[in-house]
Amino acid sequence: MPDMLVPLYTLPPVPALAEGLVIRPALPFEAHVLLDFTARHFSPKWVDECTVALAARPAKVLIATQGTTLLGFACYDVTFRGFFGPTGVAPEARGKGLGKALLLAALHRLRDEGFAYGVIGGAGPVEFYRQTCGAIAIPDSDPGAYAGALV
Ligand SMILES: CC(C)(COP(=O)(O)OP(=O)(O)OC[C@H]1O[C@@H](n2cnc3c(N)ncnc32)[C@H](O)[C@@H]1OP(=O)(O)O)[C@@H](O)C(=O)NCCC(=O)NCCS
Repeated sequence: MPDMLVPLYTLPPVPALAEGLVIRPALPFEAHVLLDFTARHFSPKWVDECTVALAARPAKVLIATQGTTLLGFACYDVTFRGFFGPTGVAPEARGKGLGKALLLAALHRLRDEGFAYGVIGGAGPVEFYRQTCGAIAIPDSDPGAYAGALV
């Protein structure tokens, strides 16, 4: 899985979502909900990255919600400065534009914080990132900065 480079100076706007769907930073007292969601649907490493993201104020993890239900999350500027990820949408909530909206909302925050380029760390669905934000794969970037990580 390569890293991918994203120009932040030509980002498209965050798309509008269907009524009732909201993207916003997670709040400290929601940590247990987010960490449980990440553990159930994804991986222990992503739980760790969300934990670090939650330590910033505002948190460097955006969440997608419907009412009081968590549907997805996206971290930015966490494991390495300027990196996007991890991100995930609950399996039953995919295909509604949440993954794209979380991605673009997080990239706009990176842009607002002064980065000209963002990096998608260890991009799984390369085509998703190419389509949604014009990301290009960085040559020889796998395993890149993640080499030698403890398992
Ligand atoms: C990748 C993921 C976040 C996408 O979330 P989503 O809410 O289903 O995506 P969206 O509904 O916003 O899709 C936006 C567009 O990307 C496309 N897309 C979505 N997932 C895609 C994929 N895996 N590959 C290629 N295109 C994809 C959609 O078809 C849609 O295209 P359209 O705008 O032309 O209709 C979600 O599938 C997921 O959680 N996957 C598992 C975790 C993961 O792989 N995270 C990324 C790690 S780097």
